[in-house]
Amino acid sequence: MSKSILIIGACGQIGSELTHTLREKYGGDKVVASDIREGDDHLMESGPFEILDATDFDALEEIVAYWEIEEVYLMAAMLSATAEKFPMRAWNLNMNSLFNVLNLGKDKKIKKIFWPSSIAVFGPDTPKQNTPQHTIMQPSTVYGISKQSGERWCEYYHRKFGVDIRSVRYPGLISWKTMPGGGTTDYAVEVYHQALSNGKYSCFLKPDTELPMMFMDDAIRATLKIMESDTGKIKVRSSYNLAAMSFTPAQVAKSIQKQLPDFKMEYAPDFRQAIADSWPGSIDDSAARDDWGWQAEFDLEKTTTEMLDHLK
Ligand SMILES: NC(=O)c1ccc[n+]([C@@H]2O[C@H](COP(=O)([O-])OP(=O)(O)OC[C@H]3O[C@@H](n4cnc5c(N)ncnc54)[C@H](O)[C@@H]3O)[C@@H](O)[C@H]2O)c1
Repeated sequence: MSKSILIIGACGQIGSELTHTLREKYGGDKVVASDIREGDDHLMESGPFEILDATDFDALEEIVAYWEIEEVYLMAAMLSATAEKFPMRAWNLNMNSLFNVLNLGKDKKIKKIFWPSSIAVFGPDTPKQNTPQHTIMQPSTVYGISKQSGERWCEYYHRKFGVDIRSVRYPGLISWKTMPGGGTTDYAVEVYHQALSNGKYSCFLKPDTELPMMFMDDAIRATLKIMESDTGKIKVRSSYNLAAMSFTPAQVAKSIQKQLPDFKMEYAPDFRQAIADSWPGSIDDSAARDDWGWQAEFDLEKTTTEMLDHLK
């Protein structure tokens, strides 16, 4: 296959795993990784890499032309917890990077775009359980507002200019290969590291805070699946609900204790509790299942086993 792919924000939690998977599938030289900073040796050595600020349209356009890019995966963003500290920087990065990519699509300089949204598009007035694809949203965080606005713009560029944009609302993502980048679900990665290194973890959310989560392998599979589906199957051009499992910090602790009986979890909720409280506990992803055949594979027990086995 001759198409070339550009990943923006390739050194982050999702971008680095996505880059490796796409390079394995399409060949290292077909997948250009880019970020505002350099990545680890594997990422830097397994294919082309460009330093790129996603908010710089001219630099992006130049890279797209030079590498003859057809598909862009835009993974650069400021995440929920950090965005509450730097609202204007988050808004500028999250919105301008998206406009830059959408405008390349509008000008027919690229053929297909992946841009992730988040469960953060939902807010305190959203039905909490089995949150439907279409429902009350009203996000209350800077990050959620940027993602919801992004969704509206994606749908607009598709309807108005025929831009082939595809998107999923990732839940909190869990991976043993990469560390999370400043989100409200980061505890669900940190806990496994600390369980093995310290035997205890102080969680920044309350024990009964239920949130939708997903193991990284499922997230990468969903990303490739929606991008490879026939365009007619992608009926939602804002962003699809996507689900795998939902759990609370207390449930993760219990699941870890099955393998590490001495593990202890303490709780010291901070500002991230309010963010978590505004989000759904579980997600109805039947639209993604019906339209393009989405099906998750990892539940909490399988995730705990994968995390502990690999981190050991
Ligand atoms: N990780 C999750 O749990 C989760 C959940 C829902 C949605 N998402 C979304 O998925 C996408 C990727 O998330 P992630 O967890 O990998 O984030 P991350 O913070 O781990 O990675 C983001 C990457 O973007 C890079 N970056 C920052 N500013 C940049 C700029 N101006 N130009 C180019 N690169 C820049 C960073 O250096 C970093 O490598 C984001 O859109 C995020 O909102 C993530």
